[in-house]
Amino acid sequence: MVVDRSERPIGMFDSGVGGLTVARAHIDLLPHEHLIYFGDTAHCPYGPRPLEEVRKFALEITDALVEEDVKMLVVACNSAASAALDEMRERYVVPIVSVIEPAVKSAIAISRNRRIGLIGTEATVNSGAYEHAVGDTKANVLLIAQACPRFVEFVERGDTSSDELLEVAREYLEPMKESEVDTLILGCTHYPLLRGVLRYVMGDDVVLVSSAEETANQVYAELRDADLLNRSPQTGTHRFIASSEQGISGELGARFLGPEFKAVEYRPWDKP
Ligand code: DGL
Repeated sequence: MVVDRSERPIGMFDSGVGGLTVARAHIDLLPHEHLIYFGDTAHCPYGPRPLEEVRKFALEITDALVEEDVKMLVVACNSAASAALDEMRERYVVPIVSVIEPAVKSAIAISRNRRIGLIGTEATVNSGAYEHAVGDTKANVLLIAQACPRFVEFVERGDTSSDELLEVAREYLEPMKESEVDTLILGCTHYPLLRGVLRYVMGDDVVLVSSAEETANQVYAELRDADLLNRSPQTGTHRFIASSEQGISGELGARFLGPEFKAVEYRPWDKP
């Protein structure tokens, strides 16, 4: 029997629920695609972990998704992409799209004064992965990066509007304002939920670039170019797998993804 690859699912993973913002953007843009989402809730957060450790988790998860015969792999976690993208691309033949390059490409196209801000976890910012992605484009832009480690904890506890959050945001974003960036990359899965406070602090003249939406645009383009778009008129199915019951509840999942968030399959991860 000839298997039509276009009907295979897209595999996507993140350290936990955050990547569901990326899944949301994909479901909106590619409603006919089947999706398998893996959240490594057993090891979340990745942001404060050493890059080597994050790389190991990312490769193990990728092995598992490749075994599911996915037609494309989306690294929906900035920290994992920062740690493991090069190695993943060397190791697997399946096309891999990460949240990094699409956001960089879009920010470069948007910025007028060629000063672009990046906010993300410590792992992402310390890895220099965004600087490399900017360098690969050969664009003459200045990237000002700032780790914002506390943002993830605010979002995870459902706080997107407190005075404490505003104060922390003002502190983190001060270097961006001083450098007069006109474009800010939200280089972390959780930050689209902080758009309100980020826009409030940065002002209306700064364009916020969400890696979630840009990644979905890139996936659309790559699937179309490879003739892998699912042409079925049916709505795609969505599977959610997590490595631990900790850190993924129906309420949290619905906040990040919306009504499509359904039952989670647990796949305990005993490898370290
Ligand atoms: N998903 C992570 C990222 O985009 C944020 C959460 C974490 O630290 O694991 O970098």
